[in-house]
Amino acid sequence: MSQPLTDSHHRVHRSLRISIVDKCDLRCTYCMPEDQHFLKREELMTREEIATIAKLFVERYGITKIRLTGGEPLVRPDAVDIVRDMAQLGVSLGLTTNAMTLDKHLDGLIAAGLKSINISLDTFDAQRFKTITRRDGFDKVHANILLALARGLRVKVNMVVMRGVNDDELLRFVELTRDHDVHVRFIEFMPFAGNHWGRERVYTFSEMLGHIGSVHSFEKLTDDPHSTAKAYRVADWPGTFAVISTVTEPFCGNCDRLRLTAEGKMRNCLFARTETDLLSALRRGEDIATLIEANVLAKHAMLGGLPPFKPESQEEVLHDLSERPMVSIGG
Ligand code: 5AD
Ligand code: SF4
Repeated sequence: MSQPLTDSHHRVHRSLRISIVDKCDLRCTYCMPEDQHFLKREELMTREEIATIAKLFVERYGITKIRLTGGEPLVRPDAVDIVRDMAQLGVSLGLTTNAMTLDKHLDGLIAAGLKSINISLDTFDAQRFKTITRRDGFDKVHANILLALARGLRVKVNMVVMRGVNDDELLRFVELTRDHDVHVRFIEFMPFAGNHWGRERVYTFSEMLGHIGSVHSFEKLTDDPHSTAKAYRVADWPGTFAVISTVTEPFCGNCDRLRLTAEGKMRNCLFARTETDLLSALRRGEDIATLIEANVLAKHAMLGGLPPFKPESQEEVLHDLSERPMVSIGG
């Protein structure tokens, strides 16, 4: 029998995101500071260590959803093997990728049991893609999204919406749901170390709906109780879209997510400022179960204990952020 991981706010945790590498072949401005240093190979969890820790979360603690992230998970040479290991745990499995090299790995990923994939794309303009990601790659990523759809994967496209950067492209992304059975997710720009966040740069959930609603009439869909996204559909279009309103309407109340960084540190929240070093304890041969339970119990009610993301608390938010940029937390 599993023993659910419940925090002091009575939230039961069923979902675990595991970052398998902190490197990335893109360098998105909202995610990675320019001078980012990466972990050395021996600091990363090995494939076996990932399997051991994941198995404990699933078998002992009833985790039912695992998402593999990075950095960019596919830059890790054994990424497909890790996907296979996770699929064999019988969980609902996802992978978040920038799709730069997805074509090379797609057969392997599908054979390993992957059915669902989240792809990051913030613009349909190749030049703008280069400004946002500091690399060339739009054509590759675009082609790989179409390829993943053609191969029958469930595809979610994540767009981080930033005012004055790509907020003029929302309709183009919504149109993707007319042409394909794809789920587009518009994500409010969130603050992380070194990402030049400002409350005024957040294109808000209500602005997004107003903008889309000025052209298309859409209907609300029913959201899963633990979903971070509010989902919609333009009538009769095959795809759907959603907004992730972390900044203006956080959804911490029923959060069921836990995280593991690529170096095996457990975090109970995206915005957590403390973490628990599971990997070092595992390598010393210690029992990590009590560490996991204590980490979950210490979870804050909202936003990892940060003040609300209101314009008037911007300075406080920026001051209190975790030292980790998003690329090393795991997207
Ligand atoms: N704000 C919002 N979402 C972000 N991501 C990374 N950085 C941010 C940020 N600052 C998300 C994107 C990307 C995934 C890897 O992480 O959705 O697709
Ligand atoms: Fe890489 Fe994804 Fe971060 Fe962009 S958002 S730098 S693609 S990990």
